[in-house]
Amino acid sequence: MDYFCYQENRLHCEQVPLDKIAQVVGTPFYCYSAGTLERHFDVFREAFASVDHLICYSVKANSSLAILDILVRRGSGFDIVSGGELERARRIGCPGQRIVFSGVGKSASEIKNALEYGILMFNVESPGELMRINTLAGQMGKKAPIALRINPDVNPVTHPYISTGLKRNKFGIPHAQALDLYRQAAALEHVTPIGLDCHIGSQLTTLEPFVEALQRVKQLLATLRKEGIAIRYLDLGGGLGIPYEAQQTPPNPERYARALLAELDGLDVVLILEPGRVIVGNAGILVTRVEYVKTGEEKRFIITDAGMNDLIRPALYDAYHTVLPVMRRFDREEILADVVGPICETGDFFARDRMLPEFYPGELLAVRSTGAYGFSMSSNYNTRPRVAEVMVRQNRFAVVRPRETIQQLLEQETLFT
Ligand code: LLP
Repeated sequence: MDYFCYQENRLHCEQVPLDKIAQVVGTPFYCYSAGTLERHFDVFREAFASVDHLICYSVKANSSLAILDILVRRGSGFDIVSGGELERARRIGCPGQRIVFSGVGKSASEIKNALEYGILMFNVESPGELMRINTLAGQMGKKAPIALRINPDVNPVTHPYISTGLKRNKFGIPHAQALDLYRQAAALEHVTPIGLDCHIGSQLTTLEPFVEALQRVKQLLATLRKEGIAIRYLDLGGGLGIPYEAQQTPPNPERYARALLAELDGLDVVLILEPGRVIVGNAGILVTRVEYVKTGEEKRFIITDAGMNDLIRPALYDAYHTVLPVMRRFDREEILADVVGPICETGDFFARDRMLPEFYPGELLAVRSTGAYGFSMSSNYNTRPRVAEVMVRQNRFAVVRPRETIQQLLEQETLFT
């Protein structure tokens, strides 16, 4: 459930009409609903309330400081994947003991900064990384808490680019090598194995793959404990899907939690979850203005002032996003159209072959469900300044990141003389 809906045929975010924000801020912009964000977090947390757990929101989904701040105030921790994300966590005062650090390519300086900050654990993805962490922790006179990220070889049944838990994917330690590496880790002087981690992919719309992965890592956990390796944290990653179309019904957080908790069945662990999309995906919307409408030989093109540099999901994953008029009018015919951006690429589209009400130049349209992996994956391609981000709470809104200027984009560049 989210708080983007029509009131008197004007699309609102909570109680603020989106056309009013467009008037003040210009277009395009991302608009986030604080109420929706909080609701999604609360529902997720409630679902796991019966067990000892820590929710580490996956910062990559949307790393806006305003969003992180709202979540950390609600008790969220963070799943981070870079030194930049660690710095964001620091800026809004997230305690280190609520941070887990994932990713296959952690650099020496990222590891050092995280050790300095005192994070809860590193989710280690290779033997090389384990050794590097051990060496660096030794140099700093510290002992690094770690989990191994296990690749359970389970098919998450999602887009191949966002599958992570298959043998052919670069992520994690193969299940068959994990026990051995845990034994090595336990023998190292400057790391302490305290956790076990897996994350099998993103936008999962069924529960079976989660359960299957859990079954595999649970066995490993039992073996480790028998060997005296004291695993306290079981991190099951993120990945729960969201509805991008009204008729989609992915499992909600309650069903997801029930399935996982049934499988855990009283196992004495602190559960860690790393949700990203399910928290923020439907808490954000992209508002853009129609520049031109052009009639090709086969169909209509609605050309907007936002492009694939602002929202790359359709181009990269052929992702579906609902497109809505900001002003709903009932005198408009439905036509078959592509909604496309101004970028010089055929992949620059938000919707293809979509039945949509007719749009005219100057009108506003909204691309729904873009709170996750929207702004955070945006770029300056075609030397386009990144768009403004706006936060709404009830009847109040504020720009939480101003639109970039062309001046800003160019000021770091120099000529080669
Ligand atoms: N934990 C780890 C280790 C991850 O790699 C990810 C996402 C998450 C948690 C959060 O997953 P979520 O709950 O958001 O599904 N750009 C793609 C999604 C990439 C996901 C990368 N990893 C997209 O737009 O669909």
